[in-house]
Amino acid sequence: MSEIDMSEILIDQVDQVLTITLNRPEKKNAITQGMYSTLASTLNNAAGDFGIRAVVISGNGKAFTAGNDILDFMNEEITLSSPVFHFLKALHDFPKPLLAAVQGNAVGIGTTLLLHCDLVYAAPDALFQMPFVTLGLVPEAGSSILFPRLVGHAKASEIFLTGRNFQAQEALTMGLLNGIEENPVQRAIEVAQIIAHQPPNAVLNTKALLKSASHIAIENVMLAEGEMFRIALQSDETQGAFMKFMSSRLKG
Ligand code: COA
Repeated sequence: MSEIDMSEILIDQVDQVLTITLNRPEKKNAITQGMYSTLASTLNNAAGDFGIRAVVISGNGKAFTAGNDILDFMNEEITLSSPVFHFLKALHDFPKPLLAAVQGNAVGIGTTLLLHCDLVYAAPDALFQMPFVTLGLVPEAGSSILFPRLVGHAKASEIFLTGRNFQAQEALTMGLLNGIEENPVQRAIEVAQIIAHQPPNAVLNTKALLKSASHIAIENVMLAEGEMFRIALQSDETQGAFMKFMSSRLKG
């Protein structure tokens, strides 16, 4: 298990809005199992805290997140009880408005987590990518149902199967974003504050209604994805792709 470094997840509360910041900029905010653990407990605590009415998630530095920490995935045995899956469950079940602010690279879970958010703002330089197939993996976090539902089967297949990235304007056109903003964190916090001043029960009930039709279906897909992802992690295709990435970085 990775060591949990609390400084890698920053938590700040202003009035009734909680901000969670991925803070590992030297590694493009790649998320370790320790960070997933902190993220899961932070979301679960926020869900039960009457003083918190909305949460904003963002990343420090030039990238939102480079996705799962590859070294962590190479060194740790991932099971369905691993922190990454606790985080995904906490994300899927989170009952309050969840907003995201994205800048730079949003790779893997950096894009798929956005599909669970209620509002997303991105900077003009945001670059989204879900390179699961390229890495020998399969889509995760419910993205194999959430993404085609958003963009249609043809577009989802193209993006998943080629592994190509897409920019903020395309993400806006897809409906993944609420807006492109020079300062997405500031905008997300402003909107979170507006929502936090709305009648709280109406907000909770509205989010629950918006998500209710597909909640269980998504949970089932996430379980199936998780099992396939876990097995794929051990495959030669994936281990080879991870080795290639790490050795290219070591060579500088
Ligand atoms: N896991 C572990 N370390 C990562 C990482 C990841 N997912 N992404 C980046 N890093 C590390 C790099 O190894 C490098 O570390 P170093 O300075 O000690 O060598 C540092 O973060 C900076 O990354 P670098 O690749 O040099 O930055 P870049 O601006 O050239 O490229 C990305 C940014 C995000 C395009 C590129 O880092 C990348 O493709 N990362 C992997 C994304 C990925 O495949 N994620 C897994 C999805 S399941």
